Amino acid sequence: MTGNGRPWAIEARGLVKSFDGFTAVDGVDLTVPEGAIYGILGPNGAGKTTTLRMLLGIIDPDAGVRRLLGHDRPHDVSHAIGYLPEERGLYPAMKAYEAIAFMGALRGLPLAEGRRRGKAMLEEHGLGYAIDRQIRQLSKGMAQQVQLLGTLVHQPRLVVFDEPFSGLDALNQGKLERMIRNLAEQGTTVIFSTHVIAHAERLCDEVAIIAGGKVPFAGPVDVARDRIPAQVRLETRHADGAWRKALPLEARHEGNHWFFPLPDTGIEPLLRALIEGEAGILSLSIERAGLHDAFVAIAGEAAARALEAPQEEAA
Ligand SMILES: Nc1ncnc2c1ncn2[C@@H]1O[C@H](COP(=O)(O)OP(=O)(O)O)[C@@H](O)[C@H]1O
Ligand SMILES: [Mg+2]
Repeated sequence: MTGNGRPWAIEARGLVKSFDGFTAVDGVDLTVPEGAIYGILGPNGAGKTTTLRMLLGIIDPDAGVRRLLGHDRPHDVSHAIGYLPEERGLYPAMKAYEAIAFMGALRGLPLAEGRRRGKAMLEEHGLGYAIDRQIRQLSKGMAQQVQLLGTLVHQPRLVVFDEPFSGLDALNQGKLERMIRNLAEQGTTVIFSTHVIAHAERLCDEVAIIAGGKVPFAGPVDVARDRIPAQVRLETRHADGAWRKALPLEARHEGNHWFFPLPDTGIEPLLRALIEGEAGILSLSIERAGLHDAFVAIAGEAAARALEAPQEEAA
């Protein structure tokens, strides 16, 4: 159970996986609250796919335990799970709605119901014209959208998307973001991996930051952002005066504009000193750190650079 009495959709403790003596995942702990949008954020090779495959029971961990929707054996809850693997692929000769129905059937949905829902879902997502087209007649991005709908056709309680934004253009990335938010609003738990901070920052309630097979942070995005102090921007009427002693040593300035991290003591003692010193405050704002800066502070510069480096797209 979580602190607020809701069950965890996923609990993982101490997951380890090696391939030929190379430790790809090195002791991963994470807990995903039911109904959350949860991101696994890290560069190429960090261990995201291996972690997701262990959570789903596609591969077994060398050590550690995981529970999926309260079950120790992921296969027991397979009907309640939707999974978009990193390597996409549907049978090229199948029609789009058949492909969706087929994916549902693999998760226990009767074929006739899957066909009906497949057609309706394609219509609903603006792909009605593709219902009777074969997968081989669709663009890669469209085929990927069909596969996405196939992961949802049996109305899973938990969906797992491995790099779902890769291979989609900006328009369809936006569509997918809306789809993920809608799923969460309906109570579905969504966990997805990404190497793009912006997707995690816009969507996620919680994230696991992963680099080199380790998870140095897992928890609410706000808590990650609070790892680094907020930045104060201050504009004063006067450029100089005794009040300058009240500013932290690391304060930078351009003319009358000052920039510095929010002191541990908070903003009030500082404000009082500035007012008593007659600094003449024209404006003052406090900006919380973004997830990018938090990522750098938590995972290091090298991992952040790897995140931004061009990534190999999944085939
Ligand atoms: N089946 C495998 N055999 C050997 N090495 C693997 C295998 N799967 C993953 N790896 C290695 O484990 C590391 C983590 O891979 P992966 O989990 O795919 O990372 P990510 O999804 O974050 O890019 C990489 O160095 C990768 O080469
Ligand atoms: Mg991967």
